[in-house]
Amino acid sequence: MLFNFFNISDLTAEKLTEILSIDVNKKILKNKNIGLLFENYSTRTRLSFSVGIQNMGGNCVDLRFSELNISRQESFEDTFRAFNCYLDGLIYRTTDHQKLIDAAHYFDKPIINALSDVSHPCQILGDLLTLKENFGSLEIHILWMGDMNNVLYSLVEAANILDQIKLTICSPTQISSPINWKMNSNIQVLTNLDSIDLEKVNCVMTDVFISMNDKDNDEKISLLKPYCVTSELMFKTASSSIFMHCLPAKVGLEVSEEVFRSSKSIVWRQAYNRMVAQQKLLQFIYQ
Ligand code: CP
Ligand code: NVA
Repeated sequence: MLFNFFNISDLTAEKLTEILSIDVNKKILKNKNIGLLFENYSTRTRLSFSVGIQNMGGNCVDLRFSELNISRQESFEDTFRAFNCYLDGLIYRTTDHQKLIDAAHYFDKPIINALSDVSHPCQILGDLLTLKENFGSLEIHILWMGDMNNVLYSLVEAANILDQIKLTICSPTQISSPINWKMNSNIQVLTNLDSIDLEKVNCVMTDVFISMNDKDNDEKISLLKPYCVTSELMFKTASSSIFMHCLPAKVGLEVSEEVFRSSKSIVWRQAYNRMVAQQKLLQFIYQ
């Protein structure tokens, strides 16, 4: 059983594997009312939860921050206590991970992290499903290029749990240190690709250089520009390699247009699998 899902590390390897292999029962959310609370932009997460929940017989309630009394000074505590009166669960995207933890003090139903400044576990759940679907197993070498952000944090947590994943992170020194993240020996951080056997890389992943909770930062963009995923890089990886990006992308910055639109790019399958993976997660929570 799982109650709140704030991070990939809330799961064991067994639970993670079990979730990925669940056959979704399209009736399991009948009579369940799930709130969607987004403090920040979203296209995929809001839509994939909304459609996914309705496809499982559940009802979605869009809680728009600016329309709630919290935006005219009702307290955080009273807002979540009010949600308790009507909702069976909450999908919550927040600018501050601590708010997920605080919300759980007042709201007694499951809360799912729909992205915070710290992590994006639903993204990585979907990506693991996409990788498993593509390669048949998770015995793969993933190369992450660029920023060390919330999506990467969840990927690192997944690789800590599933040691068959080899993860190489390639990021500039100024960004890759200091690191407080726990990383097992199947994870390495490099500043360039000189020492890795690119032919063994199965998947190249990246994300925007500036995340939605970051401030615009031209210096960071300049530092990261050389870490753009190009056709030249993809050409050196395994012949069956794929390119992944959680989206939204700044095409031309962290990935070239050529790679993004190439046959190696499976970004739209990735987006679709967000919905499938989240349905599996919801079934695991509510079954
Ligand atoms: N990947 C992702 O979470 O996309 P959205 O920000 O559009 O939800
Ligand atoms: N790292 C990105 C992910 C968006 C889905 C962000 O936080 O903006």
